[in-house]
Amino acid sequence: MQERLKELQAEAIQKVDQSAGLKELNDIRVAYLGKKGPITEVLRGMGKLSAEERPVIGALANEVREAIAAKIEAKQSALEEAAVQEKLAAESIDVTLPGRPVKAGNHHPLTKIIEEIEDLFIGMGYEIAEGPEVEQDYYNFEALNLPKGHPARDMQDSFYITEEILLRTHTSPVQARTMEKHQGKGPIKIICPGKVYRRDNDDATHSHQFMQIEGLVVGENIRMSDLKGTLNVFAKKMFGEDREIRLRPSFFPFTEPSVEMDISCKMCGGHGCNVCKHTGWIEILGAGMVHPNVLEMAGYDSKKYTGFAFGMGPERIAMLKYGVDDIRHFYTNDVRFLNQFAIEE
Ligand code: PHE
Repeated sequence: MQERLKELQAEAIQKVDQSAGLKELNDIRVAYLGKKGPITEVLRGMGKLSAEERPVIGALANEVREAIAAKIEAKQSALEEAAVQEKLAAESIDVTLPGRPVKAGNHHPLTKIIEEIEDLFIGMGYEIAEGPEVEQDYYNFEALNLPKGHPARDMQDSFYITEEILLRTHTSPVQARTMEKHQGKGPIKIICPGKVYRRDNDDATHSHQFMQIEGLVVGENIRMSDLKGTLNVFAKKMFGEDREIRLRPSFFPFTEPSVEMDISCKMCGGHGCNVCKHTGWIEILGAGMVHPNVLEMAGYDSKKYTGFAFGMGPERIAMLKYGVDDIRHFYTNDVRFLNQFAIEE
C-alpha cells in the first residue's frame, strides 16, 4: 500500500508538471484529491489494516495528499502569472508608432466676428448684456416708441407666438430692459449680441434668423459727437485704419435723430465698384440718439439723461471682411466653408 501511495504521488506530480492550463490542472486536482480519487480510496480501506500499519499508512496518505496539493498550488500560481505576462505582452503599445491626428474644431466665423467686436467694445468700457429671444411685444416694440399699429412695425416682419409674445425682431429690446433695470439712475454702457428673427424669405442677403449686436450708452451729456467718435473707432479697428465713415440721415422710431453709417469701400478705395454698387460706400449699421420717449418709458429723466444706440449685423460685417457672397453659408455648416476660418486661431 505504501508503494501504491508513492506511485500515486509520483504520477500526480508528473501530470501536474506536464499540465499546460488551469482547466487541466483542475482536472488533475479532482482526479487525485477528489472524493472519488485513489487517495481517498486508500484512506477508506484503512479499516482493513492492522493496528500497527494504520497510523503509518494514514500519515503517509496525508503526506502524499499535501505534497500533491502543494504542487498543484505552485503550478497554478505559475500558470496564472504566465497568463498575466502573456496578456501584458499582447497589450503592449509601440510608443514609436506615429499618433493618429485629432481633428480640432475651430470657431465659427460669426463667433469670431462677435468676439472681436465684443473685445473692441469691452476695451472701451462696455459691458455685455443679454436678453430673451422669445420676447414680449412690449419690449420689442412698445417700449421702443413703436405702439401697436405704428406703421414702422412693418419694417420688421415678425413671428408672433401670441398677440403679446413674439420672436424678437432685433436686439433693441435689450436696451429697454437694461434701462428699466437701472430704474432711471446712473450711466449705462452695454453691447448686446444675439439672435433675431424676421419673416423674410431666405436668399443671398436675407435670412429668417440672423445675428445682431446692439450698443447702448446712456449718461449725462452724451452727444451725437460721442456716437460718431465711437463708430469711427469701431470702423477703423474692424475694417482698417484707412477706412472713412459717413453718417446718412435715416429713421428709427426709437432714435432721434437717426442715422445709417457707411464705410468707404475697401475694394475700390471709394471709386465705385460692384461690391459698393458704384457708390464708393457700404452700409454697415443703424444708429441714433435714444429717443426721449424711450428714455422716459424706461424711467429715465430725458432732460437730465441722453444716450446713443446702434445696431449692426455680424453676418454683414463678416461677409464684407471675409468676402463671403451668400449669408446662407453661415448657417449650412459646410465644413469646407468653415475650415477656411481655422487659420488664425
Ligand atoms: N434695431 C434696429 C434694426 O434692427 C437697428 C438700430 C439699433 C437702429 C439701435 C438704431 C439704434 O434695424
